[in-house]
Amino acid sequence: MSLRAAITGVHGYVPDYVLTNAELERMVETNDEWITTRTGIKERRILKGESQGTSVLATEAVRGLLEKTGTSPKDIDLVICATVTPDYMFPSTANLVCTNLGIPSICSFDLLAACSGFIYALTTGAQFIESGRYKKVIVIGADKMSSIIDYEDRTTCVLFGDGAGAVLLEPTTENLGVIDFMLHSDGSGGDYLMMKGGGSVYPASHETVDKRMHFIKQEGPQVFKFAVTNMADAAAAIMERNNLTGDDVEWLVPHQANKRIIDATAKRMGIGEEKVMLNIQKYGNTTAGTIPLCLFDYEKQLKKGDDLVLAAFGGGFTWGAMYVRWAI
Ligand code: UT7
Repeated sequence: MSLRAAITGVHGYVPDYVLTNAELERMVETNDEWITTRTGIKERRILKGESQGTSVLATEAVRGLLEKTGTSPKDIDLVICATVTPDYMFPSTANLVCTNLGIPSICSFDLLAACSGFIYALTTGAQFIESGRYKKVIVIGADKMSSIIDYEDRTTCVLFGDGAGAVLLEPTTENLGVIDFMLHSDGSGGDYLMMKGGGSVYPASHETVDKRMHFIKQEGPQVFKFAVTNMADAAAAIMERNNLTGDDVEWLVPHQANKRIIDATAKRMGIGEEKVMLNIQKYGNTTAGTIPLCLFDYEKQLKKGDDLVLAAFGGGFTWGAMYVRWAI
């Protein structure tokens, strides 16, 4: 049988500081009832302190992953970090994580696909394993969203939090691991969810700062409309292609942007809420971090051979779904 990429370890990290809905009520005109009913979020984690970037979150997630899998840094072949909040434009956050952990001179890079970043990166990492080229690949989803949030904008500041998760991929000849994927993008939706400043069109200037262009801007209802349709469509399509019914799927692992989008996806797949991984209530939307953090949170409930559908939608637009059979 051909090689598949199995997830052989998962770990996550969130910073200590808890930003509650009550605290947000004191910062902007909002309330717990609105946030809870519209999104499902109760609190989120924030990385505080000077000179603390996404690599801090990612490093802790990978440190735990190496420890619990008994993996030596020198045996890692590739590190991919999905993020929209890299420490710097360059060097990449993946490079910094490798240096922090003594992972020597290997191929490492960042990948940007916003909230779909982790499934894009997991798919990419899996290709290197399936080709036989690499034996141990680390895929990280990490974002310090608080670094690009305008805490005067109530339409976005209640939604996002900071966090990271990471998985180890290794080859298997068993029928486990990444079985199928479907990834999509549509740049015509880019304007609905973006950070305009800081790139090559609007490099940082006094004007971009004055116009608050280094923060996320989102047209929530527009994004909601596309997210609810495309995430559910992607999940349903991957099930159909693999002849899976709702009964066959043990877990939906959805991107955590809005509980209502997650519920719609589960309904479309024909699965009950007891099969849906959910941590939006305690972490909010951690962008590339949501899916690996879910896997980490639910790890103890997962059994070898469980069929998982991962589904995401995010800025870009980007979206997609993966069919993964749990290997641990
Ligand atoms: O992960 C990346 C992809 N992103 C997503 O998938 C997010 C998709 N969008 C959403 O999840 C939802 O659109 C939001 C949660 C962002 C917003 O929920 P909504 O039901 O679409 O609300 P809305 O934007 O239509 O706003 C409804 C009302 C407005 O007031 P008026 O115009 O009806 O008077 C807003 O000004 O709620 C108001 N509002 C708020 N009120 C209290 C907006 N934000 C807040 C707030 N607190 N934080």
